[in-house]
Amino acid sequence: MILEVRNIVKIYRIAGLKTRILNGIDLALDGGRVVCITGASGCGKTTLLNVISGIASPENGSVYINNKRMFYAFDLLASRMRNREIGFIFQTFRLLPDETVLSNVLLPARIRGLVTRQTREYVDELLSRLKIYKFRHMKSAVLSGGQKQRVAIARALVNRPNLILADEPTANLDRKTAEGILDLILDLRREGKAVLAVTHDGYLHERSDRVYSIENGKLGAAS
Ligand SMILES: Nc1ncnc2c1ncn2[C@@H]1O[C@H](COP(=O)(O)OP(=O)(O)OP(=O)(O)O)[C@@H](O)[C@H]1O
Ligand SMILES: [Mg+2]
Repeated sequence: MILEVRNIVKIYRIAGLKTRILNGIDLALDGGRVVCITGASGCGKTTLLNVISGIASPENGSVYINNKRMFYAFDLLASRMRNREIGFIFQTFRLLPDETVLSNVLLPARIRGLVTRQTREYVDELLSRLKIYKFRHMKSAVLSGGQKQRVAIARALVNRPNLILADEPTANLDRKTAEGILDLILDLRREGKAVLAVTHDGYLHERSDRVYSIENGKLGAAS
């Protein structure tokens, strides 16, 4: 199993009230699978991805990635795990604005200490497929929202992680570009990777293995 989420509880204080945003989430995801998560704005979708990737620590429960337990108490261990095992496409991109596209995409490989000729070739291939190759020497700050989103996707894939977390990966894209990117995400399934995507995009829902919804802190089948 690439991802195992066991009984995750996450509490945030919202307007002075302790709220169980996630209230006992269980999820298992194997390689070669694409699973979608939907749910109303504010229901906890991004929070779940943050807990899975060690960005937010849960009040209860545990997460295993490639059979290794995510440690929340040590930032360094959580970020190493994130760097090596996870590709996270953030809803808000989180690019370094003053760095070029190329340097943003290469950053996870640099952190890992592994930038080889193959890495650079793979980056060129990703940028071409994502149709942003010609922007590679531009600062990411000047790109459009949809271009930034594609940079974020390339960066998430550069270390060839076998777990990909995608938070609304097509939110800023026109239909044609969106479907191109979703096809790229679906190709990852053929490479045996596990993809967990927060999306309302019907194109991906139809082609994914399962669609869940978060409601009142629980994961259920989407209606
Ligand atoms: N770090 C935080 N501190 C306090 N509250 C938070 C924090 N992060 C998220 N929340 C709250 O938790 C709730 C769930 O937020 P989350 O971002 O997970 O929603 P979402 O389902 O991803 O929504 P959207 O579809 O709008 O992206 C929201 O009410 C939000 O305000
Ligand atoms: Mg969100």
